[in-house]
Amino acid sequence: MKIIVAADKKWGIGYRNKLLVSIPKDMKHFKECTTGNVIVLGRKTMETFPGGRPLPNRTNIVLSGNKNLKIEGATVVNDIPALLEELKKYDSDSVYIVGGESIYRQMLPYCDTAIVTRIDHAYSADAFFPDLDSDPEWEIADESDEEYYFDVIYTFTTYKRK
Ligand SMILES: NC(=O)c1ccc[n+]([C@@H]2O[C@H](COP(=O)([O-])OP(=O)(O)OC[C@H]3O[C@@H](n4cnc5c(N)ncnc54)[C@H](OP(=O)(O)O)[C@@H]3O)[C@@H](O)[C@H]2O)c1
Repeated sequence: MKIIVAADKKWGIGYRNKLLVSIPKDMKHFKECTTGNVIVLGRKTMETFPGGRPLPNRTNIVLSGNKNLKIEGATVVNDIPALLEELKKYDSDSVYIVGGESIYRQMLPYCDTAIVTRIDHAYSADAFFPDLDSDPEWEIADESDEEYYFDVIYTFTTYKRK
């Protein structure tokens, strides 16, 4: 199981339920990684998607504590054990945890790969990803050359569990 996230210098990932910055090449990278696969997300992150709807061409699994919630185009699960049971239907290599903060924190222990867009800037943030650079269980396995979006510098970095 993999995690995919865009994080700034301080591992900030969002502010007021929005992304910190929207980088077109990063959006394309996210789409390429996840299309045809399974994405796992929190109910709040789904609300940030276009129209507040599940993403097309992917199996969307949404976590919510609301047992009455039904979402067309998504499977809703009400807790982590139910999520893990649902995920048994899929090859774990095809599963991507796509956020937000609460889902990342709960699911990181089940993941062996983190695909991180590292953005070399510190934004105002109120949602964070765990700092993998200071976590002895994780190491950088691959890092792209620097990419530029106007004055924003970023890299596509893959972390692996040791
Ligand atoms: N930079 C990135 O790559 C990236 C990616 C995704 C999101 N984000 C950012 O992350 C922020 C949102 O993160 P967040 O932590 O506030 O929200 P979230 O993780 O997207 O969603 C939280 C909601 O998920 C449900 N949930 C969480 N754990 C659950 C559990 N164990 N059982 C049942 N339901 C559970 C609850 O829904 P109910 O309230 O319905 O019970 C909870 O309110 C936003 O700023 C967003 O832009 C950033």
